[in-house]
Amino acid sequence: MANQAALKVTVASAPDEWRAPLLAVPLAEGASVQGALASLDAQLGGTIARTLSRGDFRGRKDEVLLLYPEGPLERVALLGLGKAEDAGADRLRRAVGHAVRQAERLRLTSFAIHAEQAAASTRQTAADAARVAADAAVMAAWDYRELKTDEQTAALVPVDSCVILASTAANMAIAAEQGAIYGRAANLARSLAIRPGNIATPTFLAETAMALGARFGLNVTVLDRVAMQQEGMKGILAVAAGSLEEPRFIAIEYHGGGDARPLVLIGKGVTFDSGGISIKPAERMEDMKYDMSGAAATLGALQGIAELQLDVNVIGLIPSTENLPSGTAVKPGDVIGSHLGKTIEVVNTDAEGRLILVDALSWARRYQPAAILDAATLTGAIVVALGNHAIGLMGNNDALIEEVRGAGQTVGERCWPLPLWPEYREQIDSTVADIKNTGGRPAGSITAGWFLREFAGETPWAHLDIAGTAYREEAAPWLRKGPTGVPTRLFIEWVRSRSGG
Ligand code: BES
Ligand code: MN
Ligand code: ZN
Repeated sequence: MANQAALKVTVASAPDEWRAPLLAVPLAEGASVQGALASLDAQLGGTIARTLSRGDFRGRKDEVLLLYPEGPLERVALLGLGKAEDAGADRLRRAVGHAVRQAERLRLTSFAIHAEQAAASTRQTAADAARVAADAAVMAAWDYRELKTDEQTAALVPVDSCVILASTAANMAIAAEQGAIYGRAANLARSLAIRPGNIATPTFLAETAMALGARFGLNVTVLDRVAMQQEGMKGILAVAAGSLEEPRFIAIEYHGGGDARPLVLIGKGVTFDSGGISIKPAERMEDMKYDMSGAAATLGALQGIAELQLDVNVIGLIPSTENLPSGTAVKPGDVIGSHLGKTIEVVNTDAEGRLILVDALSWARRYQPAAILDAATLTGAIVVALGNHAIGLMGNNDALIEEVRGAGQTVGERCWPLPLWPEYREQIDSTVADIKNTGGRPAGSITAGWFLREFAGETPWAHLDIAGTAYREEAAPWLRKGPTGVPTRLFIEWVRSRSGG
C-alpha cells in the first residue's frame, strides 16, 4: 500500500504543551507589533519589535529570518508573505514550506506555527489559517525515498510534527485535522505518481484501491482484460493491446449520501506512455511514468473524502494501462470501437488518454451521476497554452465549470477555462469512423476536450487537463521537485462544496 508516515499535526494553547524548537511567525510587509504578535513578543523580550525597527526583516515574499530570543523559545523564524494585499492562503502555504525547510536544515523534527498571527497576516479566520498551515506542512514534509539504499539517505530524519499554536484550541483541532487530511490525500497521490512505471503498474493501482477499500469500507470493483472484453471496453483494450502488462479498470464507491445521485471522479491511469506506434522522442520520456497522475489524484481524493466522512456519494473510476509499441499494438489509421458504441479512427496512438477516458465516461452512465469531473495529463498543448501555472478546465456546463474553478482557487490548484465552441468540433471529424482521436496542432487541448465531451452525454461534466501541473521540474517552497498531487485537493474541495459539511 502506497503510504508513508505522515507529518503529525497537533494543536496547542498552553505554552508547556508546545515546546517546539522552532516557532514560525508569518508576517506581511509593513507588519507592526500589535494584537497577537504583541503578546508573543512580550514573552520574547521585545525581540520581534527590535528586529522590525532595525529593518532587518521586511516581510518580503520568501524572506526568512531566524531569531534566537531570550526566554522560553529556542528559535523564532520570521517568514515573509510579501505585500499585505497579496498575503493570502497561497502565500501562507509558501511560508509554511519555508518553515519546514528551515527545520530540515537545522535537523529539527518538529516546529510550531503561530496560528493567530498567520490568520492576521493573511486576513483569514484562525481556523482557516490552521487548515491551510496543516495542509501545507504535511505536503512540504513529503519525501519519496523507498528506492534509495544509501546510508546517508537512511539517516535523514524527517520533520514529523507540526504544532498549531492558538490561544483557543477548540475548533482549531478540527480545522487542523481537516487540513492534514487534504495534505495526506495529496501525498498519497504523489507517492503513487512518482513510483516508476515498473512498480506503479495498473495492477498496483488496483491493489492500492483494494487496500483503500478495506481500510475505509469502500466498495471496489476491478476488471481485468478478460472482464473488459466482456464489458466491451474497447478503448482501453486498444491502448493495452501493445503491452504485456495487464490493464485494469477500477471502480471505487464511497457511500455517504443515502440515495442521492453520486458524483463521479475519473482519473487517467496510463502507467507509462511511450506514445505507442506513434512513439515519443526519447528526451524526457521518463516523465511519462506520471501519466497516471489523474488516477493517483482519484485514489488520493477517495481517501480524503472517506476520512472527512462527507455526506455525499462518490464514485472513483480509473481506466489504467500502459501505452507501448509492439506487433500487437494498435496502429495509426486503425478504427476501434468503444464502450459507448461509437467508432474511433486512431490517427495517432499517442492520443491514448482520451481513448481510455471515454470508456470510463460511458461506464459512468450506470450510476446516473449528478456530475462528472475527470482529470488527465492529456495534452502537451495545455503546457503551451497555460504553462505550469494553471489546470486547463473545460466542460459542458457553465455552472459546474464555475464551481470547479472556485474549488481550485480555494486549495491553490488554479484552473483556467478553455472554450468548447462548436467550430473546434469539426477538427475531429473522421472520413471513415464516427470520430477521430486527434484534431491536429491547433487548439490541441480543446479538441481533446471535445472528444471527451462526445462521450459524456447530457450529464454535467467538466474536464481538467493537468499535463502542465501534475509534476514539476523545480521545487516550490512547499513542494519538492516531482509530483504535486494536483488535482487531489481540488477533487476533495469540490466534493465537499457539494456536501452538507
Ligand atoms: N500523456 C500525454 C500528454 C502529456 C504531455 C502529459 C506532456 C504530460 C506532459 C498524452 O497522452 C499525449 O501524448 N498527448 C499528445 C496528443 C497528440 C498526439 C494529439 C500530445 O500532447 O502530444
Ligand atoms: Mn500519449
Ligand atoms: Zn498520455
